[in-house]
Amino acid sequence: MRINFLIDGRDYLIPMVIEEPSVVAAASNAAKMAREGGGFTTDFTAPIMIGQIQIVDVRNPESARFEILRNKAEIIEKANECDPVLLKLGGGCKDIEVRIIESMFGKMVVVHLLVDVRDAMGANAVNTMCEKVAPIVGRLAEGRPLLRILSNLAVYRIARAKAVFKKTAIGGEEVVDGVMKAYAFAEADPFRCATHNKGIMNGISALMIATGNDFRAVEAGAHGYAAIRGYKPLTKYEVDEKGDLVGTIEVPITAGIVGGATQVNPLAKICLKILGVKSSEELSRVAAALGLAQNFAALRALATEGIQRGHMELHARNIAIMAGAEGSEIDKVAELMVREGKIRIDYAREILSKLRGG
Ligand code: MEV
Repeated sequence: MRINFLIDGRDYLIPMVIEEPSVVAAASNAAKMAREGGGFTTDFTAPIMIGQIQIVDVRNPESARFEILRNKAEIIEKANECDPVLLKLGGGCKDIEVRIIESMFGKMVVVHLLVDVRDAMGANAVNTMCEKVAPIVGRLAEGRPLLRILSNLAVYRIARAKAVFKKTAIGGEEVVDGVMKAYAFAEADPFRCATHNKGIMNGISALMIATGNDFRAVEAGAHGYAAIRGYKPLTKYEVDEKGDLVGTIEVPITAGIVGGATQVNPLAKICLKILGVKSSEELSRVAAALGLAQNFAALRALATEGIQRGHMELHARNIAIMAGAEGSEIDKVAELMVREGKIRIDYAREILSKLRGG
């Protein structure tokens, strides 16, 4: 559980499921620092997913595009027959796009259904609609519909967050400068950028797992979005006129609070209750804030003392358990290893044998 998060003026306790304990501690620490700058402010576009229908063997792609768009109302109506409940809630297929892409087999026509999935992740609703309308668009395009599946690159379902990290709260000008240079490194180098974005997803995926969401979908969407104009960081940093660090993040979040495992898995249900979000939009806003916090924490640690000390201190408990410590022995062994600065399995065994009077 991560405390300290002040998001849009509300306090959140964020559940996280992850094997790396330092990730959880780091998020909490960053959120505490952000609090001094007023916490996180967030924004969200809409819960719109894209469903793709690939049409192959189209002789005249431009005519196909014209005919599909001309018959948009019929296609949307047909798609919306699939899910009356979603429609009643204000969701459903809202619009369509038609793209012509170049492929190794020549031009292909790709139809996008833009579906408002409300509080669901939406994969089932979208895939059902794609399968339902594929024969119509195939006929209109005078081609053969092939794949009918949602896209994880959810460019219309974007969450944003911003936080001011006051220089006085984060360790001064040197830290501001260090984080800026760390960010510049990721901007300039895909090798670094992959790790930078991985750190962001440490937080976001941990929340997705806790709430029973498809974290692979969110990961795919995030990295896809990062790569849309050449692989870039999902976060950005600037220094304001006071010399404070301003961080922002923009990331697609395809997460729901209904459907899938969210309301079936008992732990996911409890986590959603603890988090206290009322919509998929609110969950997405929290996820964006968490991703930003996670990234800031990583950059700050990397640009100062490095991440290993904090990481190893928290990892010490795992090593104690690996060495055979049980119950109250675990904390004792971990504490002694940290105090001595020797966080290693051989040393854990040595301490354990002494504790047991060996
Ligand atoms: C480790 O899980 C995540 C980091 O590597 C992220 C980063 O380098 O920005 C610390």
